[in-house]
Amino acid sequence: MTTDILGYAGKRVVVMGCFSGTGEAAARTLVALGAEVHGCDIRPSPVEGLASFTAVDLKDPASIAAGVASIGGEVDALFNVSGLPQTFPGEDVVTVNFLGLRQWSESWLPRVRSGGAVVTVSSLGGMNYLARQPLLKEFMANPDIASGRAWYQANAERAGDPYTLSKEAVNTWTQISAPALMERGIRINCTMPSPIDTPMLNDFRQVAGDAVLSAFAKAKGRFSTAAEQALPLVLLNSDAASFISGVCLPVDAGLAGGLAVGVLNLQEMIAEAMAAG
Ligand SMILES: NC(=O)c1ccc[n+]([C@@H]2O[C@H](COP(=O)([O-])OP(=O)(O)OC[C@H]3O[C@@H](n4cnc5c(N)ncnc54)[C@H](O)[C@@H]3O)[C@@H](O)[C@H]2O)c1
Repeated sequence: MTTDILGYAGKRVVVMGCFSGTGEAAARTLVALGAEVHGCDIRPSPVEGLASFTAVDLKDPASIAAGVASIGGEVDALFNVSGLPQTFPGEDVVTVNFLGLRQWSESWLPRVRSGGAVVTVSSLGGMNYLARQPLLKEFMANPDIASGRAWYQANAERAGDPYTLSKEAVNTWTQISAPALMERGIRINCTMPSPIDTPMLNDFRQVAGDAVLSAFAKAKGRFSTAAEQALPLVLLNSDAASFISGVCLPVDAGLAGGLAVGVLNLQEMIAEAMAAG
């Protein structure tokens, strides 16, 4: 029996979003595990030991196509970690978080080997995706970045918060894609983190305020670290998860589960956090 239960040694993997935070932590871990790691981001990566770094802007279809062509070849795993908070223009948020990441992944899929896997970072903010399927399918029916952006601009009011929309779309896309990909021996999953102590947290503070954020952190009394969000990504794309596909995994110290069965109540938790100042 092998002791390399994650099986990354010698695997060719691509990490989108390795300038900072969760993606940077994932890339460092994958390098340490012996993978051939190709890093991408709109900004340069500080990670040492990458096999290559390619600048890619997920808002730009030409940049996405050039990134795939420049790395080239076949790959074993895609890590889709890039994201934008809702402090950015809504059409950019839905593009980076969903439309661009979907195009990036689907451009790679013909090059993903059987036995390979795709993982995307969604968010607990997208956990109500099942309740909004008609709207999400309408948004997702737009086949490319230009049409998806145009749909968002025309429907911004009824679509609501662009970050929520984009993460609900990631969850839905993950589960829609899983059965057909499994026929090719490829798995696809996503994670739904609660707040992470990364540069993006400051943007969420501006949007939601400290009380809401502390309510989300209550389960463990603190926010998760980037490493605590990166390691589940590494697990989901590893050989150790060979029977896991189509999963939207909360990485939140129990919050989503508690809310689902009613032992936690977010409104009460926010009220408590506000009262505590
Ligand atoms: N921080 C949180 O509280 C939190 C909570 C839930 C989910 N998430 C999600 O976690 C993921 C990682 O975020 P993080 O918390 O590590 O924050 P982060 O800001 O450190 O990382 C985001 C990364 O996306 C990259 N990026 C931004 N625009 C891009 C573009 N146009 N093209 C390519 N890359 C681009 C950034 O350069 C950065 O490396 C994101 O998908 C985010 O939505 C974050």
